[in-house]
Amino acid sequence: MSSALMSVYRPADVAFERGEGVYLYDTEGRRYLDFNAGIAVSALGHAHPHLVETLKSQGEKLWHTSNLYRIPNQERLADRFVAASFAERCFFTNSGVEAIECAIKTARKYFYDKGEGHRHRLITLEGAFHGRSMAAISAAGQEKLTKGFAPLLPGFDQVPPEDLDAVRRAIGPETAGVLVEPILGEGGIRPLSDDYLRGLRALCDEHGLLLLLDEIQCGMGRTGRLFAHEWAGIRPDIVAVAKGIGGGFPLGACLATEEAASGMTPGSHGTTYGGNPLATAVGNAVLDVVLAPGFLDDVVRIADYLEQRLAEFAARHHNRVETVRGRGLMRGVKLRDMEARKAVGEILAHGLLVAPAGDNVIRLLPPLVIEEGHVDEAIDILDTYFRSLGPEAP
Ligand SMILES: Cc1ncc(COP(=O)(O)O)c(C=O)c1O
Repeated sequence: MSSALMSVYRPADVAFERGEGVYLYDTEGRRYLDFNAGIAVSALGHAHPHLVETLKSQGEKLWHTSNLYRIPNQERLADRFVAASFAERCFFTNSGVEAIECAIKTARKYFYDKGEGHRHRLITLEGAFHGRSMAAISAAGQEKLTKGFAPLLPGFDQVPPEDLDAVRRAIGPETAGVLVEPILGEGGIRPLSDDYLRGLRALCDEHGLLLLLDEIQCGMGRTGRLFAHEWAGIRPDIVAVAKGIGGGFPLGACLATEEAASGMTPGSHGTTYGGNPLATAVGNAVLDVVLAPGFLDDVVRIADYLEQRLAEFAARHHNRVETVRGRGLMRGVKLRDMEARKAVGEILAHGLLVAPAGDNVIRLLPPLVIEEGHVDEAIDILDTYFRSLGPEAP
């Protein structure tokens, strides 16, 4: 397989031609169950009728104007995020990494405008992933992301997850805030405990720091609440979101409190495409569905069922499965004595899309609209695959 693409990916040798709900169809007409959802992007599955209709009708009217003019779809989407969350201000982007970039700049500018420009450092977590820009790889700090890209952006201090003392020790006169994913996604589906998140909020309050969250993967209904931090009952200062908020159309957002966003004045930041009429029409259509009464309750219900079926699956294959973890429809199966990346390729051949994650984990990120039958089908495929590997040691 060769192409003119930069070889930064090693794609599986399958190309999908169309999608319908929770299923994808390849160019040979073969059907696959999609428990990857484009890495937590296709939150409503494929070709959702309301999204298709919105895209078509907006596409016939107006795609793009730039942020030099008012964009009613964007203003409406911002108002709806504000009404449904901690946020009071929104900035729309085309991707997750741009939302993170805006979050970091918002935090730095906040302190600069207060005459405390020396406070520019963020405490981040070992094993984190925030995207691929220079700021995002510098924030994560992992060698596999940063190797070959020095010099990195200064201003990030990594500490181990779930260790509040380590955060306390890392706080210094230059610290501006803490940036964490409530569930480490690429890092192996590792949820931070509600107590730890509450502890971070308390530490930030004690030291006058900003709490920044990366909900790009775990947000937008994936845990059964609009945002994952809601489970911990905390109010963050800045949250980066993306992926599911566009349901497959490139859209991200940096959400912030009025206070945290106070430095983001005219001319301080910008984007050509971000929040354009087409993207924000689709964003509003996604919210129509996700905020409809009962939708998130259904996510909680189906996620409980998935959790239970995965626990039974792990017990059946305890010699190969070390543990299952996660929250809502963001689940990880940590393997022992076999490689997750290889397993994911072989599971694809059995007709199921899942993704690998760090720490030797198979990641399940199904669309939020799955039903019990889809969970049963996925577990059956996983069982068949694991049994095909031969008898397990007792
Ligand atoms: C937690 C998290 N942050 C940031 C990003 C970067 O988002 P994007 O690839 O849209 O730039 C991702 C993407 O996987 C992510 O999972």
